[in-house]
Amino acid sequence: MSYRFPDTFLWGGAIAANQVEGAHLTDGKGLSTSDIQPYGAFGELAERQPNDFNIKDVAIDFYHRYPEDIALFAEMGFTTLRLSIAWSRIFPNGDDAEPNEAGLAYYDKIFTELEKHNITPLVTLSHYEMPLNLAKQYQGWASRETIGFFATYARVVFQRFGHRVKHWLTFNEINVTLHEPFTGSGLPRDCDEQTRFQAIHHQLVASAKAVKLCHDMVPEGKIGNMILGAMLYPLTCHPDDMLKTLTQNREWLMFGDIQARGYYPSYMTRKFTEMGVTLNITEDDKQALKETIDFVSFSYYMTGCASADPEQQDKADANMLQMIANPHLKASEWGWQIDPKGLRYLLNFLYDRYQLPLFVVENGLGAVDVVDEQGAIQDDYRIQYLNDHLYQLGEAIQDGVDVMGYTSWGPIDLVSAGTAQMSKRYGFIYVDRDNQGHGSLKRTPKKSFYWYQSVIGSQGETLTEPQS
Ligand code: BG6
Repeated sequence: MSYRFPDTFLWGGAIAANQVEGAHLTDGKGLSTSDIQPYGAFGELAERQPNDFNIKDVAIDFYHRYPEDIALFAEMGFTTLRLSIAWSRIFPNGDDAEPNEAGLAYYDKIFTELEKHNITPLVTLSHYEMPLNLAKQYQGWASRETIGFFATYARVVFQRFGHRVKHWLTFNEINVTLHEPFTGSGLPRDCDEQTRFQAIHHQLVASAKAVKLCHDMVPEGKIGNMILGAMLYPLTCHPDDMLKTLTQNREWLMFGDIQARGYYPSYMTRKFTEMGVTLNITEDDKQALKETIDFVSFSYYMTGCASADPEQQDKADANMLQMIANPHLKASEWGWQIDPKGLRYLLNFLYDRYQLPLFVVENGLGAVDVVDEQGAIQDDYRIQYLNDHLYQLGEAIQDGVDVMGYTSWGPIDLVSAGTAQMSKRYGFIYVDRDNQGHGSLKRTPKKSFYWYQSVIGSQGETLTEPQS
């Protein structure tokens, strides 16, 4: 039976500055942590050598081609676009006394272009990058001073864009520091738990301060958090597996719990004791954390399983995480397990927990696309993946969950965050560029472009019931 999504539901796609813009030193931009991660999210602090190749230096050249790309998004019927601001365009070194006007002017042009097409921006303040200088001079988020630098950046951005951008997110996948500390916080990969959790604490305080600034400075603004939604099911119904699953899910839920409730959940007390971690939490920090988010957002690509059995070796790749494979699910070419019903489950689960509006701000299938002899891309596998997930999202709304919108990941092909490949494509729009950086950068709509256009045009009524 077809279902019509609410008229207020926002439809669109999500991109991140470092994965699309290129122009990594243009108009006064400083180097960011992403600029020295040529192999994707798995990086360390290093000096960039003059001849180093990093595919993100050009990425898909969104910096110059944004009018064409935004027009294509509009043609699909987007009512929202999630994008991030590169912090290092605004504060090239992170600790500069004054912002870089050319960086601010660039995002003004982007927002003007979006307004021309009636596309509402959803802006992430920090998506997997920070000014490199902060990682070098201050140990990234390990330093309390970074909270102040981020608050200054947030204040400048709200001041400049607050009259035209009403939807904001603080940190992309704020739980990622647990898995990739350099990507998440500018920390060395082998940093100890004390440093890692203190950095996470600083980031959570900075996030809450940005929420307060948004509430004070952006009339009618709404600001959310963003978590990598890493839902685990118990591999069996053995009580030990149930407890293990509870514990492991709390590793990522902790972030949402703090950001939505305004304080550390009680289960962290035992966890910190067992890890030997003693956080430095000031009275000012406690006060800051009380400023809670307006909505909860998350990325959703897969689910996995947890098991208490140490012999259990059947692992599945899962973004930057390792999970135990679910025998009932198939996986993508990159080993990510595909679970549309898991999206319905997660939406219900999070709504039960927080009673806040939810926003699915990333979801999609990374796949190798083939351009046929006619120059067309018949990406039926992507259509099926997205159809099935959106169908389950519609089911969740009918379950009573308040979902603000959906932005599929990479509506135009972009550089993979995890692997720095161009060949891991998510887009409705094909970009002619390969992993070595060869190609014309020409944009071509795929079959899924027209499919998404009809889904948006019908408010979801053209979605079909999944086969399984
Ligand atoms: C999310 C990130 O983890 O997953 C994105 O927020 C990323 O930046 C996306 O691109 C997909 O991951 P990947 O590794 O396929 O690019």
